[in-house]
Amino acid sequence: MEHALPDPGGFPVAVRAGSPAASAALGERAAGLLRGGETLLLWGPLGAGKTTFAQGLCRGLGIGDEVTSPTFALANRLEGRLVVHHLDCYRLGPDDDLHDVGLDAILDEVESGAAVLLAEWPDPLLPWLRDRIELLATPGADPESRVWRLRGVPELPGPWAALAAGGDG
Ligand SMILES: Nc1ncnc2c1ncn2[C@@H]1O[C@H](COP(=O)(O)OP(=O)(O)OP(=O)(O)O)[C@@H](O)[C@H]1O
Ligand SMILES: [Mg+2]
Repeated sequence: MEHALPDPGGFPVAVRAGSPAASAALGERAAGLLRGGETLLLWGPLGAGKTTFAQGLCRGLGIGDEVTSPTFALANRLEGRLVVHHLDCYRLGPDDDLHDVGLDAILDEVESGAAVLLAEWPDPLLPWLRDRIELLATPGADPESRVWRLRGVPELPGPWAALAAGGDG
């Protein structure tokens, strides 16, 4: 399916990550803000660094498992300080039903506060989501750099806006 990416202009906060490790470190710092119940949407083109960010976030939650794109399963359940449901909807076909991948149970567990939802290529999920924090990764000025932008629906919580203060340039 075709995936639309949001307009960067709609994201009020931006931070540069000058290396893959810097994108992972941003994810690790984001993990420290999670209390359970959050939905994080990771936008960005192929190879932008969404999974790299997810790896850092999971590391920050004490998840020892290797974090890969859940391309075939669509959803991976990882357990650390919080449960992470890592979804990647890139290969979701027009005839695939999100309910078949267990979306209802995932959303229930997130709603309960015991889990967080972390989704790459999340546009098919939007009809089921309300409050969320969204990150958009785009290529930076050189091949090893990315710009991460943040926004929230209905708004970006203050501590998340402050994440941008910790970039590396
Ligand atoms: N600053 C950076 N941040 C993140 N990744 C970077 C950066 N610079 C280079 N890279 C490289 O870009 C690639 C990012 O891959 P990653 O799997 O994280 O992207 P993705 O957004 O999840 O892609 P996909 O849409 O295919 O799932 C990796 O090979 C990584 O080493
Ligand atoms: Mg990925």
